[in-house]
Amino acid sequence: MTRPESEGLPLRRAVCPGSFDPITNGHLDIIARASKLYDVVHVAVMINKSKQGLFGVDERIELIRQVTAEFGNVEVESFHGLLVDFCKERDIPAIVKGLRAVSDFDYELQMAQMNNGLSGVETLFVPTNPAYSFLSSSLVKEVAAWGGDIAHLVPPVVLEALNKRHAQG
Ligand code: PNS
Repeated sequence: MTRPESEGLPLRRAVCPGSFDPITNGHLDIIARASKLYDVVHVAVMINKSKQGLFGVDERIELIRQVTAEFGNVEVESFHGLLVDFCKERDIPAIVKGLRAVSDFDYELQMAQMNNGLSGVETLFVPTNPAYSFLSSSLVKEVAAWGGDIAHLVPPVVLEALNKRHAQG
């Protein structure tokens, strides 16, 4: 599937952007599916200086690198500023986003249209696996903070990191 640049073909690139605080099985499912459709998938972790996350950006990146290593074509980086600038700098023509439910659609459509208007970058929506349609990083953090079982919702390294973070208080 991968088209090496050495064959003279440009690599097909896409980006999966997000906060990933932390990455869940829902995110991972979208990244895995994108990695089958594109030669290189860039996972772009947004730096939000006005919002303190549970995990620092470097910790989030490390967790994502660990759980996507098996795909072999995923690159993980942070960014701040506009996503379209991240795309422009790396020659990325497509954003891949998961849609969990109709409620996601309004805002996602606005962002897709804004990004397309700003730079021509396209957004492709992938329907979330129904097993994860209720899943968000916020809910995972809340349930984990109260000792609920989230082992089926996040990769094992993320579970371990969450347990460690909550043990530290
Ligand atoms: O995981 P999240 O928090 O839902 O991800 C939101 C994200 C990072 C995809 C979105 O906020 C974003 O693209 N931010 C970058 C700033 C930007 O480009 N804003 C204009 C969007 S139209």
